[in-house]
Amino acid sequence: MPLLTPKENAMQILVTGGAGYIGSHTCVELLQAGHEVVILDNLYNAKESTLARIEKLGGKAVTFVKGDTRDRACLVRLFQECQIDAAIHFAALKAVNESIQIPLPYYENNVAGTVNLSEVMSEYGCKTLVFSSSATVYGDRNPVPFREDMPVGKATNPYGTTKIMNEQILADLCVSDPEWRVTLLRYFNPVGAHPSGELGEDPNRVPLNIAPIIQDVAMGKRDKLLVTGHDYPTPDGTCIRDYIHIADLAAGHVKALEHMVASPPGCEVFNLGTGKGTSVLELVEAFECVNGVKIPMEYAPRRAGDIAECYADVSKAERVLGWKTQYGIDDMCRDVWKWLHNLNREQREREV
Ligand code: NAD
Ligand code: UD1
Repeated sequence: MPLLTPKENAMQILVTGGAGYIGSHTCVELLQAGHEVVILDNLYNAKESTLARIEKLGGKAVTFVKGDTRDRACLVRLFQECQIDAAIHFAALKAVNESIQIPLPYYENNVAGTVNLSEVMSEYGCKTLVFSSSATVYGDRNPVPFREDMPVGKATNPYGTTKIMNEQILADLCVSDPEWRVTLLRYFNPVGAHPSGELGEDPNRVPLNIAPIIQDVAMGKRDKLLVTGHDYPTPDGTCIRDYIHIADLAAGHVKALEHMVASPPGCEVFNLGTGKGTSVLELVEAFECVNGVKIPMEYAPRRAGDIAECYADVSKAERVLGWKTQYGIDDMCRDVWKWLHNLNREQREREV
């Protein structure tokens, strides 16, 4: 039997990692859709100032708990004090290269954190969870576009392995206990900022993905972009990825959650991407044209573990969730530029 009818019942949602990049944008969408939000974040890679941005854009206050998914006592207190209907579990370490150098903290944080959270949720009878997975689980053997029914591949790094392990753990949980509802969301490449320019990625750790590097070059914080590989079997020789606007990705979470609570229990998987591939050169060109800046580039050798093409088949999410992306590459480039300028202005104002 369905648990709730979406829209009729507002839910109180626990958002782990809710102060981070994807989590913060999703909190805004949840608040705007009428839900209540409890954020659990240890602020390892996020700033407390993000909470005020979420509340301003969401139009409502959130409850914030500074805490860790691995801290059982903290989770127990949270579930005792707040009536949580469902959780969206973003909290994780995400630096691919670092995960190769120091794998144990990745397994500990990403896998033990999920096990701990699921155990406490079970104890408190809250058995509805959305999990942040990644297109990385498709590995390097499946043909593009990636479809949810393709076999999960072998990850090329411990970070990717934690995503595969978590997917398996949560699927097993659903088999073991028929009351659980789990949705695994496989993100493609999230980029951009809130269209208002008032919220965006503001990490404590140095990001190594292409979008923040292009932004750093544009802001003069780095000399140039190193294009890692231009001899791939793609039209311009550079890798192709499926860049999805952060606002579309965030909206996908609300759709997935509302669909899940209205559906029978079990484990479901959805790709969240645009279905369109963009090469590194196309991305740079879009950024330059939209924002009127030059991004100096240099070709460099391929990066270990990269695949030539990665983009989603999004027909399942469109059909089942009624979700469709609204924004394109130009919007992603424009909104992130607006956000960076806002952030810069705030920093200057603090300095005077
Ligand atoms: P992020 O680092 O901005 O956000 C993660 C948040 O979790 C941070 O605020 C951090 O402080 C917090 N956190 C980390 N470990 C914690 C713990 N043990 N307890 C409590 N809080 C903790 O990252 P993001 O880009 O928003 O990613 C969110 C999720 O999406 C992650 O699970 C990530 O692996 C996944 N994902 C991200 C991408 C991407 O490109 N950004 C792609 C695919 C999947
Ligand atoms: C990477 C991770 C993936 C993770 C995802 C989101 C690897 C191998 N994969 O995906 O597991 O889920 O981030 O966090 O790290 N590029 C450059 N120059 C750079 C950086 C990147 O040309 O300085 C190119 C890359 O070769 C790639 C594209 O830009 O073709 C996108 O790179 P990136 O943003 O790191 O994302 P993915 O490799 O798709």
